[in-house]
Amino acid sequence: EMIHMATLVHDDVLDDASIRRGGQTINALHGNEMAVMLGDYLISNAFHLCSQIGDPGINTRLGCVTNTLCEGELIQLKHRNNHELDEVVYNTIVKKKTASLIGASCRMGAELSGADQDAVLSLERFGVSVGVAFQITDDVLDLVGVQEVVGKSVGKDLDKGKLTLPTIISLAQSDASQRRVLLDLVDSCDLAGLKAILVKDGSINKAMERAASLVEEAKSELVGLGPSLSRDLLATLADGVLDRQF
Ligand code: FPP
Ligand code: MG
Repeated sequence: EMIHMATLVHDDVLDDASIRRGGQTINALHGNEMAVMLGDYLISNAFHLCSQIGDPGINTRLGCVTNTLCEGELIQLKHRNNHELDEVVYNTIVKKKTASLIGASCRMGAELSGADQDAVLSLERFGVSVGVAFQITDDVLDLVGVQEVVGKSVGKDLDKGKLTLPTIISLAQSDASQRRVLLDLVDSCDLAGLKAILVKDGSINKAMERAASLVEEAKSELVGLGPSLSRDLLATLADGVLDRQF
């Protein structure tokens, strides 16, 4: 959770976001310098805390995950304002910047509670699939959500030149003139105009269908674990990714 918080504090600096979880972001309250340092402090604290568990394997795995999170953000930065961004690169970004931490958290929870290797790997795959689904719905909410309900700044992906799945799907199914209209809306950061097209041409629905199929994939990983309250809760958590409004 501390690593996750650190990444969000830094992410809000990168995205120039002013609202997070219904309140003002650290950068909005105290400026970018303070937010960068607080993010650093959180990440440093997370590793300090982990180093006291007495299992260096945890630090190694988490270090690998934080490398991956940064790679995801760097690839995303490199593709800002890239109109050719396709689903393959989008998936790579999302897997690295979001799903890797959720997958590793599920994996480490299983490992630390003594689960067998099959269960450990199933839970890691569960976390990765849920993580990609979560980021897809996050990107949908950034386009169609209402800031007061979502509890964080919306329209930031467009502001920062980040193409996300609904727009990528819409561009892929467009002819040259529709493509021009879409890209003009993207370049002028016209959120209302873009949203209207993405809803009308079914791209928002198609992105949500993609998320729904990932949630089904995730839940299929739970079948071999045997019945338990924890398994039911994980399935409920996966379904919650599709219903979420914030
Ligand atoms: C949210 O994306 C951002 C992430 C899931 C990862 C952010 C990672 C970094 C900034 C790298 C820093 C790494 C460390 C180790 C401190 P988003 O902007 O799509 O989501 P949002 O809508 O919640 O802002
Ligand atoms: Mg952000």
